[in-house]
Amino acid sequence: MTISSGLNCKPAINFKHGRKVKMDRNNPAIRLIMMPKDTNARGTIFGGVILSYIDQAAAVEAHRQSNKNFVTKAMNAVEFVAPVHLGDVVSFYTRILRIGETSLTVRVDVEAERAQVEGQKQLVKVTQAEVVCVAVNQQGRPIPILDEARKNRLVGPLRKGKSSKTPPKLRKNQSQKN
Ligand SMILES: CC(C)(COP(=O)(O)OP(=O)(O)OC[C@H]1O[C@@H](n2cnc3c(N)ncnc32)[C@H](O)[C@@H]1OP(=O)(O)O)[C@@H](O)C(=O)NCCC(=O)NCCS
Repeated sequence: MTISSGLNCKPAINFKHGRKVKMDRNNPAIRLIMMPKDTNARGTIFGGVILSYIDQAAAVEAHRQSNKNFVTKAMNAVEFVAPVHLGDVVSFYTRILRIGETSLTVRVDVEAERAQVEGQKQLVKVTQAEVVCVAVNQQGRPIPILDEARKNRLVGPLRKGKSSKTPPKLRKNQSQKN
């Protein structure tokens, strides 16, 4: 199984001059091939395996943005719209939805590339998720993510009017990962 974490790559900044930029389709946080150990009794891939990689992909994106230590605080409800098959190449694309004081909300899009007969490939959307990662200190308490200069440069305009502590979407429809 190959995992390309992207940690050593050029940081994929999803904000430019305070505006969101599109997800980088050439630079997933993780891309890997599904192996027999990842399958359920039907021979397709366990949902829990994909959830675990979603969590890891969000962590990779959080580390692209800041060198703090992050823990997962919450993940929204995840709906699988298509199965993942043995041998599929699965990509986990990430982008930042929100940078708060101590938390980052990361959107993760999961796509499977299926090998088809006669060499054709099929791209299938599997699922998507929103993950809240909180930066913590050695004691496990939340700490600010960005220094003021970087915060102003990256997210200054976006922060206007966003005073609520938590993204409402996640508060309403969350499944906490504690
Ligand atoms: C992460 C943890 C340190 C946060 O502590 P806390 O006392 O809840 O922290 P706060 O209430 O100050 O919230 C911290 C940030 O998370 C956000 N947050 C808290 N609960 C949230 C939720 N349910 N949904 C979305 N965001 C949430 C807050 O808005 C805040 O973000 P901001 O500072 O950017 O505005 C603590 O809950 C913890 O240790 N959880 C376990 C994490 C873990 O082990 N994860 C792996 C599970 S195996």
